[in-house]
Amino acid sequence: MAEEGSTSPLEAGRILVIALVAVIVVLGIALVGVVIGRSATETPEARVDALAGSSDECVVCHRRNTPGIVEQFAYSSMAAAEVACRDCHEVARNYPGAVEHEGTFVLGQPTAAMCERCHATEVAQFNQSRHALPAYVAYAGAEGLRDDLLATYEVIPEGGYNPDRMRNALYAIEGPEITRFACESCHNIGKPAQDGSVGDCTKCHLRHEFSLEQVRKPETCNACHIGPDHPQWEIYQESSHGIAYATGGQRWNWEAEAGTLDVQDFPAATCAICHMSGFGGASTTHDVGERLTWFLFPPISTRRPGWQDNRTRMQSVCMECHNKDFIEDFYTAADKATEKVNAWVKESDEIVAPLKERGLLTSEPFDEPIDFLYFELWHHWGRTAKFGVWMQGADYVQWHGAYEILADLAELREVVQEKLEAAGVGK
Ligand code: HEC
Ligand code: HEC
Ligand code: HEC
Ligand code: HEC
Ligand code: HEC
Ligand code: HEC
Ligand code: HEC
Ligand code: HEC
Repeated sequence: MAEEGSTSPLEAGRILVIALVAVIVVLGIALVGVVIGRSATETPEARVDALAGSSDECVVCHRRNTPGIVEQFAYSSMAAAEVACRDCHEVARNYPGAVEHEGTFVLGQPTAAMCERCHATEVAQFNQSRHALPAYVAYAGAEGLRDDLLATYEVIPEGGYNPDRMRNALYAIEGPEITRFACESCHNIGKPAQDGSVGDCTKCHLRHEFSLEQVRKPETCNACHIGPDHPQWEIYQESSHGIAYATGGQRWNWEAEAGTLDVQDFPAATCAICHMSGFGGASTTHDVGERLTWFLFPPISTRRPGWQDNRTRMQSVCMECHNKDFIEDFYTAADKATEKVNAWVKESDEIVAPLKERGLLTSEPFDEPIDFLYFELWHHWGRTAKFGVWMQGADYVQWHGAYEILADLAELREVVQEKLEAAGVGK
């Protein structure tokens, strides 16, 4: 009787075993679930290590010394296409910049000339653009260019715009301690190399992944196209296109083959779609000026050479998603807004003219507050207003654009008047 309701030691042991088995089974099911869940969210085709088991000595040794580089390159489509480390790095003994390495000679920083062997079209287009020599000349000037580079620079159709010396003055004033991390960091996208080739493709194509997804995403451009004087990134974020990207971009077809992109892949525009990708009637280009009608960056905007053809190219991109009337109406209105900003900048020139005529501005640039005021009026606010118009950033057209221009015009009038009075000139 006393035994009734209680379990024998044998039975207790059996229950324990059953309980353990149950726990193991549950854990096992959970584990399988986790594994299945993970593989369902990963895109398996993107994770093929093309260098697995490679006996290439560069790969074998660098897996130990710089595993990150081998890992990144291994998953690229170039590695899959059997492009090797040597294809970009190995050069002849007498090649400019060659360093001796493991029985051969390599470039630590492969130049565009290396890419050009296999990607001649991209390199030629890039060289015709303001991302090439004009970007470098913007801070370094053209004076120090070798003869062959000067010749290349002079035939770039969109390179003709002569930089305003006033802006380059900041480069000298700030000095090399600063400019290495400032101007040069962005403008070296077009710096010539020792071998005479131009530019740094890896400013956009981060090494060693060379991924289409990475380069097509607008964050790639925001390394440079950002800040008070060229806030294309900020403007994009507040445009309908940028909002579509931020809210739905994870579903877009980022790895689609170049030249075949359409609205199925990209339902809204990115920087690359409008300026570079083959989309609609426009073919893929590394000449980012090819679709632009205005020189927007100078104080007073003027038309570009061949601007009508450029407009046709850009509009053919827009018209994959918008109708013709909408786009033509948009262009007409945006042209007018550009001219309105031009008129304000001309007005600022007229306000300052009496000081210039009477020699009442110091000859040094950026040494008195009026220099900064006069500069920011067009360099920050004028540009911002124009970029906001063309890339749909209402806040940038208004509060960081037109409003600031009006405020600066008022201040400029007052400062000029004070200076004239101080000099005994009643205006
Ligand atoms: C036996 C090992 C070994 C082999 C083989 C080897 N490397 Fe290296 N490599 C190194 C080491 C170590 C470094 C220095 C890494 C560091 O400084 O962190 C290096 C550096 C480099 C650099 C940078 C050089 C610079 O000046 O910045 C490049 C580029 C490079 N290797 C490419 C190659 C290529 C291409 C091959 C095949 C032809 C190769 N390596 C073969 C070990 C090797
Ligand atoms: C498609 C061309 C390309 C291929 C292929 C390539 N590299 Fe590079 N590599 C570059 C470029 C471009 C740079 C950096 C240039 C610069 O700094 O401006 C670089 C830099 C390096 C550096 C020195 C800089 C650093 O980040 O430490 C090493 C080391 C290197 N590569 C090793 C390798 C190895 C190993 C392989 C093969 C697994 C390889 N590379 C394949 C283009 C390539
Ligand atoms: C030896 C020839 C060779 C060299 C040198 C070379 N590439 Fe490539 N590259 C290829 C091939 C082949 C492909 C095609 C891969 C494909 O379409 O699947 C490719 C594809 C690419 C892609 C497209 C990647 C994709 O996912 O579709 C980029 C970007 C690229 N290369 C950039 C560069 C850059 C930048 C350099 C110089 C630093 C360079 N390549 C040097 C042969 C080369
Ligand atoms: C954050 C990156 C960045 C920094 C830093 C930077 N720039 Fe620029 N700069 C740009 C971009 C992007 C443009 C193009 C604006 C456009 O086309 O709308 C530009 C345009 C210019 C232009 C007008 C285009 C031309 O070639 O005439 C000049 C001149 C210039 N920059 C000089 C400088 C100097 C000098 C410095 C340093 C004092 C500097 N920049 C710092 C990114 C930068
Ligand atoms: C301003 C950023 C930028 C720079 C600089 C740049 N690229 Fe690209 N590149 C892109 C973008 C964006 C794409 C993708 C275009 C698209 O959407 O199809 C691309 C695509 C490519 C492709 C694949 C094209 C195809 O048709 O398969 C190659 C190859 C390539 N770039 C090579 C280069 C080389 C070589 C350089 C240096 C001369 C270079 N790129 C410099 C942005 C850049
Ligand atoms: C490493 C910095 C850097 C990156 C990254 C960069 N750019 Fe630029 N970009 C510049 C500079 C600097 C200029 C101005 C060159 C000049 O006029 O002096 C410029 C100018 C331009 C222009 C105007 C060209 C003209 O003819 O006036 C366009 C359009 C442009 N970039 C688009 C892009 C796009 C799209 C991307 C991303 C795919 C991108 N850029 C990435 C630095 C950069
Ligand atoms: C919906 C298409 C579209 C998108 C998206 C777009 N742009 Fe633009 N962009 C334009 C148009 C249109 C212009 C002015 C064209 C003209 O001059 O006719 C322009 C002008 C520019 C300029 C001015 C060049 C000059 O003359 O000073 C730069 C630089 C630029 N864009 C870079 C970018 C960057 C970087 C991004 C992404 C952050 C971007 N754009 C996104 C359409 C676009
Ligand atoms: C890949 C498709 C695509 C391309 C290319 C494209 N857009 Fe758009 N655009 C959109 C989408 C989607 C919207 C958001 C529609 C909405 O607001 O309901 C939009 C919105 C706009 C708006 C704002 C409309 C509003 O009512 O606020 C303007 C203006 C505009 N686009 C102009 C352009 C211009 C100019 C170009 C070419 C330089 C262009 N777009 C290229 C897809 C595109």
